[in-house]
Amino acid sequence: MQAKIFAHRGTSKHAPENTMAAFSLAYQQGADGIETDVHLTKDHVPVLMHDERINRTTNGTGYIKNHTFNQLKDLDAGSWFSPEFIGSRIISLDEFLEWIQDKPLYLNIELKNNKIDYNHLEHIVYDRIAHYHLLHRTTLSTFNPKSVKRLKHMNRNIGVALLISKRYKNLVSAAKDLGANAIHIKYRLLNQLLVDRSHQENMAIRVYTVNKPKSMMRSFSMGCDGIFTDVPKTAIQYRDPI
Ligand code: G3P
Ligand code: CA
Repeated sequence: MQAKIFAHRGTSKHAPENTMAAFSLAYQQGADGIETDVHLTKDHVPVLMHDERINRTTNGTGYIKNHTFNQLKDLDAGSWFSPEFIGSRIISLDEFLEWIQDKPLYLNIELKNNKIDYNHLEHIVYDRIAHYHLLHRTTLSTFNPKSVKRLKHMNRNIGVALLISKRYKNLVSAAKDLGANAIHIKYRLLNQLLVDRSHQENMAIRVYTVNKPKSMMRSFSMGCDGIFTDVPKTAIQYRDPI
């Protein structure tokens, strides 16, 4: 099966990451899916941002967990990237799900609970996805093995991926034992044996963050199930040459 191309935080090379501008651009460019990151606010609203703190990508400061959604929603999440995007906002998971609901896109929602293990994040996110009837095209991923286990114990019908950034002995069996049905690995860990081993065990293998044409072609030729890229348009050109 052809590798799926996921826009990493949206088309984050050309628009501010994890904003509607980056997601819309990914859709316009023909990405198969969107990867995004979720944290919880002080009042337990799931919001989309990569970092635990709002400092790098907004005009605010501090931790997401110390702000209510009302305090976050009017911050500027675009001007750090370029003046063209002044007015871009932090969005809630609900706003994203509402937007994606009528579009033929896959979702990869990364639970950002490896540094702050937010209480009940798994249930909160799952319930919102179920509410929008999007479970069948969603994968939840996390670097936190305990969270993979908790997702498995929720015993619900949704794709779960273990994220890995370092070498890991017996990775495929370890991920499978936790209850994952996919592994999402850093590009430098990619090799043919790992792809074959994943497929023998019925596990999908997807790779991040693949921005160079040479790395895209290597991932496609090895049979990866998906790549995460900041430049989906380029990836499509290399995957589907005319
Ligand atoms: O989900 C793949 C990738 O996004 C994981 O790393 O740091 O970009 O969230 P990071
Ligand atoms: Ca991510």
